[in-house]
Amino acid sequence: MDRIRNPFSPGAGSPPPELAGRQSILEQADVLLGRVLAKRPEKSLLLTGLRGVGKTVLLNEIERRAVKAGYRTILVEAHEGKSLAVLLAPHLRRLLFELDRIAGAGNKVKRGLAVLKSFVGAIKISVGEFDIGLDIEPESGAADSGDLEVDLPSLFVTVAEAAQERNVGVAIMIDEIQYFKPVELSALIMAMHKMQQGQLPLVLIGAGLSILPGLAGESKSYAERLFNFPEVGPLTEPDAISALQDPVLAAEEEFDPAALKEIFRLTQGYPYFLQEWGYQAWNHAAASPISLHVVQEASDIVSKRLDENFFRVRFDRLTPREKMFLRAMAELGKGPYRTSDIAEQLKVKVSTMGPLRAGLIKKGMIYSPSYGDMAFTVPLFDEFMRRTIPNFEQ
Ligand SMILES: Nc1ncnc2c1ncn2[C@@H]1O[C@H](COP(=O)(O)OP(=O)(O)O)[C@@H](O)[C@H]1O
Ligand SMILES: [Mg+2]
Repeated sequence: MDRIRNPFSPGAGSPPPELAGRQSILEQADVLLGRVLAKRPEKSLLLTGLRGVGKTVLLNEIERRAVKAGYRTILVEAHEGKSLAVLLAPHLRRLLFELDRIAGAGNKVKRGLAVLKSFVGAIKISVGEFDIGLDIEPESGAADSGDLEVDLPSLFVTVAEAAQERNVGVAIMIDEIQYFKPVELSALIMAMHKMQQGQLPLVLIGAGLSILPGLAGESKSYAERLFNFPEVGPLTEPDAISALQDPVLAAEEEFDPAALKEIFRLTQGYPYFLQEWGYQAWNHAAASPISLHVVQEASDIVSKRLDENFFRVRFDRLTPREKMFLRAMAELGKGPYRTSDIAEQLKVKVSTMGPLRAGLIKKGMIYSPSYGDMAFTVPLFDEFMRRTIPNFEQ
């Protein structure tokens, strides 16, 4: 059928034609945004889930709602090798200038800029031509100890107070939050603790792989008290069917029920895969309704495309030993996997696997969903590994 009218949108962060099955998470976000502006306590949100389940898309949608609810927003994506401070500082600067343009009395915005300037000075960040503004003197003694766990909370307090003075809230949205170092996560958590204590209008909404297993002691117990961790997972069958059928109906075309069932079976409801299958099935069909037969024919193309793109980009960055580690995991089925079972597959001692495992975590291939367990970050990756390396012999 006409490719130009194809409603599906496979791709990282591409908004789907129908954001199916996420009503309860969006409601949680609305409640959070509303309550915090009304000075009522509410836990911040950290959306957790595998790659391709729709976290980025949700974060963008929540940002839209935050703006509507009266927030000024910051949306950043963390990545390996960029510190939290370097990532946030330019955005906080932009936000404070935005607040400065909102009419209102008081000096809290100017103070925010001064504190940001001393914060930036203390961590000696180099963000190119980063300059807060020539006419602002840093406020010495504020957020400039050089200890992030002390300075970030102080900075957030001044930013939130500035926002409060201008009658708006601040929503800080961070994607791929798992890339932060433990001390950065801990600083963020401490900062949110201050927000809650002071009933200040600043919320944090994050998305990524689960961060809890990497936190220890106090920050962990704070995190559990300060955040909700809604799990973003595969869609249920009815939601997956709406995600496919509704956009097609809106285009005045249709899927046969048997075709929808088959796509659900093949994708197991994972949003990225639903978009790929919907997209290819539409293109492959000569006319509506899109039949089971068309889906079956399109499946080869989709599997190949996924193997060559979604899965392969990750696979190609691996060393031979890393590939064998992942293949050993896949040999054990869907996971999560106990480290000792992986070691047994590889016929090595658990104690020797540390560096290999750490490297794979760093590359974003695996993560620890709970203490002592490992899992793939990409859905159905175990099947891909078995397809790509059919024979596993150690
Ligand atoms: N609720 C949903 N229903 C249908 N498709 C979705 C949904 N959420 C996300 N998608 C699709 O899934 C793909 C991956 O979304 P993305 O937000 O990039 O995932 P993540 O950030 O978790 O890796 C995109 O093509 C998007 O259109
Ligand atoms: Mg994403």
